[in-house]
Amino acid sequence: MTTRLPSTGAPDPAAAPSTTCRSDEVVVIHRLFRRLFAEAPSLVRGVAPDDTAHARRVAKHLHGIIALLHVHHRTEDAYFWDVMTDRAPACGLHVELMRRQHGAVSDRLDVADALVDRWAHRADARTAARIASELEEVDRLLVEHLADEERDAFPVLDAILSDAEWDDIHRHAQRHKPPMPIFVLLGLMIESVPEAEREQWLAKEMPAPVRLAYRAVGRRQYERAVERLRSHGREPRGSTGAAPAFA
Ligand SMILES: [Fe+2]
Repeated sequence: MTTRLPSTGAPDPAAAPSTTCRSDEVVVIHRLFRRLFAEAPSLVRGVAPDDTAHARRVAKHLHGIIALLHVHHRTEDAYFWDVMTDRAPACGLHVELMRRQHGAVSDRLDVADALVDRWAHRADARTAARIASELEEVDRLLVEHLADEERDAFPVLDAILSDAEWDDIHRHAQRHKPPMPIFVLLGLMIESVPEAEREQWLAKEMPAPVRLAYRAVGRRQYERAVERLRSHGREPRGSTGAAPAFA
């Protein structure tokens, strides 16, 4: 039995109901997206004009997080909305809103993705400013959408989807090749879980061999990747100690 996590973007987390639900697992993914897209504009602004080496590094990360969000929303589109329409027809307005918000986020992501392609080889200030502005708009739309989805759709989905159906959704999501190195993605996931909940989350969600592999090699790989990404093009000075630790 699990307790519903607070809706991280909801105006009043204390008002979230307590119930058994599998959508908690998706709320964890939402936290990751909130952090990634809140940080993204500053990563672009941190690239000095003409520093094409660092621009390519940031561009690769941006392509990765954009692809990750596309896959997440396509999975939700494939598994949530038609079922919600069939089994909870009174929620039609919410379904319509979710589809519309996904579409708006997707359009903005595609604009940003195309600009990132162009910028990666030139690192010009004008394109960087446009990308940062597009990513800020993605962040704004996403924050609004995730809060609406967690408040208006997830309680309904928890009531109408069986455990077997949630398992099927997870299997489907895991079939996609991650658009970034797996340990980097895992480190970002761990970082997005509040420290007080991290141990419990890892024990529940990460198989022991994965935890061992992350401790042995993955954490260093993650630390190096984020340090280079957040170094604003400066040569990293060794480990920042900022990477999330777990026992
Ligand atoms: Fe969504």
